[in-house]
Amino acid sequence: MRDQFGRKINYLRLSVTDRCNMRCFYCMPAEGVEKVGHEAVLSFEELFLIAETSVSLGIEKIRITGGEPLVRAGITGFLEQLSALPGLRHMALTTNGLMLRQMAGELYRAGVQRLNVSLDSLKPSVFAEITRGGNLHAVLAGLDTAVSVGFPPPKINVVIMRGVNDGEILDFVELTRSRGNAVRFIEYMPVVKEEGWQRYCISGVEIVARIADHYPLETIDKGVYAGPSRDFRIPGAEGSIGIITAVSGHFCSDCNRIRVTARGQAKGCLFSNEKTDLVPFLRPPDPEGLTTALRRIVATKPEGHGITCDGYSHTNFTMAQVGG
Ligand code: GTP
Ligand code: 5AD
Ligand code: SF4
Repeated sequence: MRDQFGRKINYLRLSVTDRCNMRCFYCMPAEGVEKVGHEAVLSFEELFLIAETSVSLGIEKIRITGGEPLVRAGITGFLEQLSALPGLRHMALTTNGLMLRQMAGELYRAGVQRLNVSLDSLKPSVFAEITRGGNLHAVLAGLDTAVSVGFPPPKINVVIMRGVNDGEILDFVELTRSRGNAVRFIEYMPVVKEEGWQRYCISGVEIVARIADHYPLETIDKGVYAGPSRDFRIPGAEGSIGIITAVSGHFCSDCNRIRVTARGQAKGCLFSNEKTDLVPFLRPPDPEGLTTALRRIVATKPEGHGITCDGYSHTNFTMAQVGG
């Protein structure tokens, strides 16, 4: 599928829940997400129909997101079913890592090919502050378990916030050498409404400059399903260092993705407030209507977004609802 700006769309981010077992302050309010009846969230049959239809239209990679996808009961069986979809070339999952200790083995056996794990601090107290009570030790143990069951070292997502965790950039960089992880530094995106969010802004360029003060860096070319990350490597390191400059350096012209939320809202752009309700094409199932709706999401995908560190976002959603 191509959109009106010539971008090839082959990547679906499919959220399976907006709930989470952590409460990162940049992602959701302290009280969590609004609780709704079970029927508001799509069933696995409905999610599967969306995945199947998307793949028939040219989606080759699906990334499962949340909230936290591993808190959804029955997720492993769903992933197993997805991985058997003919035409799906790559299935990945983004998680906060808390449940990997228990679940990494079954995820691997279900056919998940790659894990991205959010980890914003290597200091227990800072980690607990950012996540409002999360247990760093459990996440680190989960990363080890993932590797021990056969996954390649997970990609680590670090949202860098000035004055919160920017002092740890070099500690994270070390992981690319000592543990072979790809570490991606993500600019803080203003989605949770908060006065003065700009104080957290630290640009990808500054992050790279700080690293380059200590290490030589070589640029890595983008891979096949490459996302927004621009990647570098310390010569000889197994893992790479990436920056995701969602605010200071938009990567919209290369965007390859669409999104569907756990409540069946399809979005052409993360930051767009526009969404299309897929529920009428799922209850009862209407594959033809669903096909037309998904094609329309691609056809009307916005050219980009206008968020900068000087601006303000007027988003009407939280990251947990959309899955990042
Ligand atoms: P892969 O390239 O498949 O590894 O995935 P990814 O890096 O795109 O996915 P991941 O879920 O690990 O997200 C990393 C960060 O990129 C998160 O902060 C996402 O919110 C952000 N992100 C992912 N896709 C987009 C996008 O289309 N636009 C913007 N602005 N940010 C995105
Ligand atoms: N800014 C940047 N990244 C965010 N994520 C969630 N909320 C934000 C935000 N406001 C990241 C998480 C996770 C990924 C899915 O999105 O840290 O790694
Ligand atoms: Fe694509 Fe929107 Fe993300 Fe830009 S912000 S890269 S247009 S999804």
